[in-house]
Amino acid sequence: RDRPTAATGSGSILVASNRGPLSFTVEDDGALSVKRGGGGLVSGLSSIEDADAVWVCAALTEGDRTAARQAPGGRLDRAGFTALPGAAGGGQNVRMLDIDPGTFARAYNGIANSTLWFVHHLLYNTPTAPNFDERFRKEWASYEAYNTAFADALAEEAAPGAAVLVQDYHLSLVPSLLRERRPDLRIGHFSHTPWAPSEYYRMLPDDVARDVLTGILGADRAAFLTRRWADAFADCCASVLGAEVRRPADGDLEVVYGGRTTRLGVHGLGADADFLRERAHRADVDSRLAGLREAVGDRRVVVRVDRTELSKNIVRGLLAYRHLLRTRPEWHDRVVHVAFAYPSRHDLPEYREYTAAVQRVAQEINDEFGTESWQPLILHVQDDFPRSLAAYRLADVALVNPIRDGMNLVAKEIPVVSEGGCALVLSREAGAYAELGEDAVTVNPYDVVATAEALHTALTMPIAERTDRCKRLAAAATALPPQQWFLDQLHALA
Ligand code: G6P
Repeated sequence: RDRPTAATGSGSILVASNRGPLSFTVEDDGALSVKRGGGGLVSGLSSIEDADAVWVCAALTEGDRTAARQAPGGRLDRAGFTALPGAAGGGQNVRMLDIDPGTFARAYNGIANSTLWFVHHLLYNTPTAPNFDERFRKEWASYEAYNTAFADALAEEAAPGAAVLVQDYHLSLVPSLLRERRPDLRIGHFSHTPWAPSEYYRMLPDDVARDVLTGILGADRAAFLTRRWADAFADCCASVLGAEVRRPADGDLEVVYGGRTTRLGVHGLGADADFLRERAHRADVDSRLAGLREAVGDRRVVVRVDRTELSKNIVRGLLAYRHLLRTRPEWHDRVVHVAFAYPSRHDLPEYREYTAAVQRVAQEINDEFGTESWQPLILHVQDDFPRSLAAYRLADVALVNPIRDGMNLVAKEIPVVSEGGCALVLSREAGAYAELGEDAVTVNPYDVVATAEALHTALTMPIAERTDRCKRLAAAATALPPQQWFLDQLHALA
């Protein structure tokens, strides 16, 4: 049988992502401690009882870099790190890549989060941005180097014929780079973001637009969270590369380019109901719920929980709440908006300014309407997962109004946890809309007045209807739990 000429590793299932499942911290006494991260991918991979699974990720913190340098070959085997303080047992082998900090920053901040993220979420204010200048070219070269580091590590770690699941826009060049190095591997790529419409995508410099597409087409299978994003990717392949797109009546889309065929899959990641229901009833959540209950009294509660992320449209959500209070005074003293907006990507000035804008508008609302006994808006920016779960339990209305979102798991999680059977106000531009739209109150995220009306509709929805809808929302939201979502991709690649 054909054996690749390059040296091979022992990993039979590999995952590659920028942010890995672990984060290390150097404690005051110099010792390392480790925390496990959350998210669909971490719970998805936890279902694999395979000692030969390897997760390749970037070292993001000083602690990560230290851990990576101390581990033989940068590879932390699961026996090693599960013994560290803070590690909650189980897990995979992890290889953390200690990439030069300047290269990493240009790739992560400059290309991944300022360019590709902005393109896929339609975030540019186009008369002034983007500018693909010299600085961009330097960032792009770093992105290529960063992707090459991943491809090299994966090529080293993978056993012959292994399955490799490459995640997201940080690593769009990895599939083709890895295929050059290891044609024996089965390679999948998964996009957790939306995909840009081709007219918008073509804003990228021609060579970059092509390289990102051909990078992903190096995979055997490229998967997306909804059919809408898969279609958009196929459209870009056709218009930018002139690739042939096959749309069989039954079955996956296929893109034929450069003599190879890449299948496009759709896997709508769902909420992890078992985890959420258990986690949401622990003592730390109960105590925060008691605190929130005291603050809101018997008033109705509108909840939102987001990273403070431009695409989440938090400011327009607040303006909609203000419009509701201005135009429907009957809600004064009868509703509280609980908004959690957790800091994110603060290396980017746009995000720092956005956080400030969120805080400013929140303050204006409380100044305009607040009384001795009623604080109309409770904004928290300090990340606190148990408090988020407490707010989920309390929600009468969940507001999820992104400009554009790959999926949006908050929209799926709140209906699972809410105690009163919440109504969901949902942007039609969120990926989750494809699965939840029928039982949600739909909004155009740009329309502040219509969003205010949607909040009113949700707040006045008869309790029986709300409860019925919420049950259906929770069922749809949990249809594809993370473990199954992950296994489906693995099987589809086989
Ligand atoms: C999105 C992306 C993920 C990313 C996450 C948090 O969900 O799809 O890849 O990890 O945002 O962003 P961060 O930049 O903090 O990793």
